[in-house]
Amino acid sequence: MRLTTLLLTTLFFSTSLLAGGKPEPPEWVSDIPEKKVIEWRRYLHENPELSFQEEDTSDYVAQVLESFGTIEVIRPTSTSVMGILEGNSPGATVAFRADMDALAVQEETGLPYASDVPNVMHACGHDTHTAMLLGTAATLSGMQDIIKGKVYFLFQHAEETHPGGAKEIIQTGVLDDVDAFFGMHVLPNYEVGHIGILPDGPASTASDVFNITIQGKGSHGSMPHLGVDPIVAGAQIVNGLQTIVSRNATPGEMTVVSVGKFQSGEAPNVIANQAELSGTVRTISPETRELVQKRVESVVGQYGTAMNTTVDLDYIQSYPSIRNNQDLNAQVKESALKILGEDQVFDAPVMTASEDFAYYAHLAPVSYFVLGVGDGPANHHPQFNPDEDAFINGVQTQIQVILDYLDNYQEKDIAA
Ligand code: NI
Repeated sequence: MRLTTLLLTTLFFSTSLLAGGKPEPPEWVSDIPEKKVIEWRRYLHENPELSFQEEDTSDYVAQVLESFGTIEVIRPTSTSVMGILEGNSPGATVAFRADMDALAVQEETGLPYASDVPNVMHACGHDTHTAMLLGTAATLSGMQDIIKGKVYFLFQHAEETHPGGAKEIIQTGVLDDVDAFFGMHVLPNYEVGHIGILPDGPASTASDVFNITIQGKGSHGSMPHLGVDPIVAGAQIVNGLQTIVSRNATPGEMTVVSVGKFQSGEAPNVIANQAELSGTVRTISPETRELVQKRVESVVGQYGTAMNTTVDLDYIQSYPSIRNNQDLNAQVKESALKILGEDQVFDAPVMTASEDFAYYAHLAPVSYFVLGVGDGPANHHPQFNPDEDAFINGVQTQIQVILDYLDNYQEKDIAA
């Protein structure tokens, strides 16, 4: 009796898993070169290269793509690579982008395949992005008969360093005929292999930087009336900048102004000659981005003048916010659900990092999403170590997204 009950429970459980859990996989899943993806990733991890210097990385990627036999390989810039796969029937052109550059970080993971290069590390997971997209290209390279249109496998250089590689590739014109762009980033602290759909509209923050030099006049600490104190002026400016988010930005719309550097002075009894401040600004709408810049300029200039100092402000606009297209986002979610099941797909909040993937939205609609790689230190940390078990879900989702986009395109044009 006890046994029978147990058996029935087990059967019931299995049946409900089939109904609501992971769906039956399509045939192409068994063609994914899972072990190769790990091998490519470990090679790239061991041999990282900084932004705009991805010579060996891009050669390696080009060679792997060529080995598939059916993919045309072009080099849009000296360190970027694009694989072009033509389907057997006509249709749209879809681009999937992976970035390939590493960071100036000394690796501290102790992994057997840790970086061989001092002070250079794949600490943002771009090695995993490259390896997964190679896995996607490998699998699709044998599926020309069911591909309607063209697939561009875009291996982009220099995401980490302003002005970024995306702009350079766009300027070459090789992406002019793309109808939609997709991209994916690994993020820790989401469950291994789970796909996070970022919001429609702003999906990442815009990131700007400002540097301020305050010129005062040095003096003896006991004779402040003979000098002009740049530290007091700097303190006023820091306080003034705090009012931008609290008094000027729209309540509820994510806006950050942080002063991360304030350097001045050498001794307790000396009025310094100069102070240097730097900060970062994060916004999600173009309007707020412009507003914050104007307010920073005004606060810095006017407080500086009020304190009798001369100020110099250098305001650098880096990457804008990614604008996820609503229709494409919905399609990515549908595709991810189809291949992974509802237990492994979730709605993720705005990514509080910036990405030059944002520039592709100037050409065509885009959708950017994230892949969970488990607990562990954040991206850019010297111990960043994404779980390799996540990669198979990343590759499956990429393939499903590409196939579904090309299939759906026959029925309706996705509006920009
Ligand atoms: Ni990154």
